[in-house]
Amino acid sequence: MFDLPDDEILPLSKEHVFYTWSAQAKVNPIAVQRAKGVYFWDVENKRYLDFNSMTMCVNIGHGDERIIKAMQEQVAELPYAAPGMTTKVRALASKAVADITPHQALTRVLFTLGGADANENAMKLARGYTGRHKILTRYRSYHGATAGAMAATGDPRRVVWEPNLMPGIVHFLDPYRYRSTFHRTNPDISEQEFAQDYLNHLEEIIHYEGPETIAAILMESVTGTNGIIIPPNGYMQGVRALCDKYGIVMIADEVMSGFGRTGKWFAIDHWDVTPDIITMAKGLTSAYAPLGAVAMKPEIAATFNDTPFESGLTYTSHPVSLAAAVANIHAMREDKLIERAAGMGPVLKRMLTDLGEAHLSVGEVRSIGLFGILELVKDRNTKEPMAPWNSSSPEMTSLRKYCIDHGLFLYTHWHTVLIIPPLIITEDQLREGFDILDKALEITDKTVK
Ligand SMILES: Cc1ncc(COP(=O)(O)O)c(C=O)c1O
Repeated sequence: MFDLPDDEILPLSKEHVFYTWSAQAKVNPIAVQRAKGVYFWDVENKRYLDFNSMTMCVNIGHGDERIIKAMQEQVAELPYAAPGMTTKVRALASKAVADITPHQALTRVLFTLGGADANENAMKLARGYTGRHKILTRYRSYHGATAGAMAATGDPRRVVWEPNLMPGIVHFLDPYRYRSTFHRTNPDISEQEFAQDYLNHLEEIIHYEGPETIAAILMESVTGTNGIIIPPNGYMQGVRALCDKYGIVMIADEVMSGFGRTGKWFAIDHWDVTPDIITMAKGLTSAYAPLGAVAMKPEIAATFNDTPFESGLTYTSHPVSLAAAVANIHAMREDKLIERAAGMGPVLKRMLTDLGEAHLSVGEVRSIGLFGILELVKDRNTKEPMAPWNSSSPEMTSLRKYCIDHGLFLYTHWHTVLIIPPLIITEDQLREGFDILDKALEITDKTVK
């Protein structure tokens, strides 16, 4: 298609590409050429098993012909339409998204370009609907890299940009059992009491901040990069009850946890809770094209029946992205991919548990569906992380390097290793990756105290 010899890709990129999240002089990119199923290949034909679905987004797997064809047909018919117009694919995509929301209750859909701007718009909608300004989010969260979404983010990616971010965000603590501040001396507390302690903490913050000032509580239903934190049973139901009690909009950020990742369309479905707004991106198109969405209850949309919603995006509802979304949702249904991911959940859990038992450097493993994590520690008793907070360590760097060298692409975050493969992965392919990880951890184990 385009003319550039393979061996010139890296040098030319080095000269002209500016990379996100990176010190430019230290970037060492894989020059990726093609991808199929759960694998991708670099320009030297080295094959990688994709244990991170690229950026936790290629849920359906690489090279799905049904999505490619739908995009090709759409681009040939109509590549773009103005935001105030509608198209066949816009009507179909809105319905397809509304249909998969809990109890099909979130009937109106605003399309964005990705996850960050989905959260920006969700916060604006909640503020418009309630007439209040504060948004409560959790410390162990990532909500995107635009100024409002970054302010909402709880983790250190926010701190570097302060104070030049959107005002009005208040953070609270996550129900993170392995390192729970409230339960160091009573770690065996029941799940119900554990959930209640964190709900009490949240309600106390609501009181201190003033319920009449709080527009929304925005949460990842299952926390992604900050640790695959799976809420205890009762927690999400409790947050829903607090939102109802105080007239606060409940926003579920399902950018990473949605579209089958946890074995349900949305992670929040595990607790049968219907939020007022769901934000999504990534798995919405399985990343075949950029797209995010905000699905909302009709009463939130109705706030703007007579008053305009003062916000917009040139590329909202881009037809080619919407074609990818419709084809992706259709293909997921056709292949029963959500059910399949649910079925593979116990398989991943068993492999993680076995790995945890075999390696001293594993402090804890957690997973739900095909959303898994290993927390690596220097000492199982003190739980000292294998890398300090918001940092890396030689141990983590060499573990990642071992995996990459051996053709396993995965994401390490501080002291954790995330396992987030395409949902089409088979047991044998999972095993293939775990065998590499097993060898890598043998080296890490040697550093355990
Ligand atoms: C939970 C969550 N929310 C929002 C975002 C931001 O999405 P995007 O990078 O598409 O803006 C991400 C990205 O990783 C995410 O994981």
